[in-house]
Amino acid sequence: MIKEMKVKYEEYSTWNELSKDDLLLVNKAKEARNFAYANYSKFKVGAAILLDNGIILTGNNQENAAYPSGLCAERTAIFYTIANYPSSKIVRMAVVAGKDDTNSIPISPCGACRQVLLEYENRQKKPIEFLFTGMKGKVIKFFQCADFLPFFFDENSL
Ligand code: THU
Repeated sequence: MIKEMKVKYEEYSTWNELSKDDLLLVNKAKEARNFAYANYSKFKVGAAILLDNGIILTGNNQENAAYPSGLCAERTAIFYTIANYPSSKIVRMAVVAGKDDTNSIPISPCGACRQVLLEYENRQKKPIEFLFTGMKGKVIKFFQCADFLPFFFDENSL
């Protein structure tokens, strides 16, 4: 039997179409991207996380001469957040990426980051909204991280 899945998400053609709150978070992610340490790939990524107490935390990709030792912006940001605000809930996360200012292709999170995001979404029992974009142009917004990782591996799989 062939089954089909549907995924609901929003698409905006420019940053100007975003709500005030979403735009603020995207701009925070863009700001955080400036401090990425992407010495090897030159591909800079910034992430910003909004907590339910209104605090915004940021992260960026951190590379290393021993390549696999580096970490994506999403995980840098979320691990920092959970480590420092373990009892707050994450409302939303935004990611801005590109080698330079010309990138208008939304950069979607890698599989490892999706797995990590989903762990915390399940743990907090509340959806984490997730926006991703290039340096300008199109923005994709998911209503929950579970939507971009079907058939995920979680504690029930153990
Ligand atoms: N990277 C991220 O930070 N987030 C993603 O979702 C994709 C990739 C980083 C990892 C590495 O530093 C660089 O981008 C190139 O892969």
